[in-house]
Amino acid sequence: MRQSPYLPNRPLKVAVLGSSGAVGSELIKILEQRDFPISELVLLSSERSEGKKIIWKDEVLVTKKTTKEQFKNLDLVLASAGGSISKKWLSTIIDQNALLIDNSSAFRLDKNVPLIVPEVNASDVLNHDGVIANPNCTTILLTLVLAPLNKLSTIQRVIVSTYQSVSGAGQLAMEELKLLTEQYLQGNPQKSEVLPYSLAFNLFLHNSPMLSNNYCEEEMKMVNETRKILNIADLKLSATCVRVPVLRAHSESINIEFADVVEPKDALEELKKS
Ligand SMILES: NC(=O)c1ccc[n+]([C@@H]2O[C@H](COP(=O)([O-])OP(=O)(O)OC[C@H]3O[C@@H](n4cnc5c(N)ncnc54)[C@H](OP(=O)(O)O)[C@@H]3O)[C@@H](O)[C@H]2O)c1
Repeated sequence: MRQSPYLPNRPLKVAVLGSSGAVGSELIKILEQRDFPISELVLLSSERSEGKKIIWKDEVLVTKKTTKEQFKNLDLVLASAGGSISKKWLSTIIDQNALLIDNSSAFRLDKNVPLIVPEVNASDVLNHDGVIANPNCTTILLTLVLAPLNKLSTIQRVIVSTYQSVSGAGQLAMEELKLLTEQYLQGNPQKSEVLPYSLAFNLFLHNSPMLSNNYCEEEMKMVNETRKILNIADLKLSATCVRVPVLRAHSESINIEFADVVEPKDALEELKKS
């Protein structure tokens, strides 16, 4: 294990890996909104978006193709380009002694990698070895509800159903939904290329691989990541994840069984406080 790098107390040289994607482009906006202390922002993507320009704090920044050279002297890498890309560049990032905050599922269940929802387990963040993982989007929403309610009475069992927007499948899937919806309304046939079926006026099980236990990968991410974040290894949880034809924002229906009786008003009060 290498020594945990802590971020230096000065404006940071930051790279957003996957900067042209659905997550990356939101991330860049938030860094600006929050006035995150940055001395240099490096935008990385694949060859496809190389040369793309964005305005950031009145500066024109040009997106670069991801190469080893681009990671030189970085302090922080915010990665959102997919698991295989994060794995590919991990050793390069570590060699720079930079911190990787990773949005993909590549390292989430690694026992040396804290999996953080700031409102739930912020204190785990210090226990890292150079990589901090961000959970699956549906897991974040779920733990934000479960963690405060678990204080009222121990949670024994959770049944969750999701209604997941197309934004979770990335920028190209969002563009595809707009196009196929137009085609549907014009009475034309729709052919989906990004998602397995057309999502226009449709819904289907989450488009992740089906596993041998007949849950899809997204559903098992919710189970395993929630157990890790809440630190309840044997939490009984069953998830059903469905894509719905909504551009942004997921919804969830959560049914919780507690060890003791929990009054709805107390549950609501706890959620309001959280
Ligand atoms: N969307 C969500 O709500 C969400 C939520 C949580 C986590 N995530 C995770 O975040 C990651 C990205 O999701 P997304 O929705 O933002 O996907 P996306 O819209 O498809 O964007 C993917 C980004 O990765 C870049 N990329 C692709 N191949 C690359 C390569 N070989 N080298 C460097 N960059 C490469 C793309 O660049 P080009 O433009 O050049 O193709 C683009 O910037 C995924 O792991 C996803 O599971 C997504």
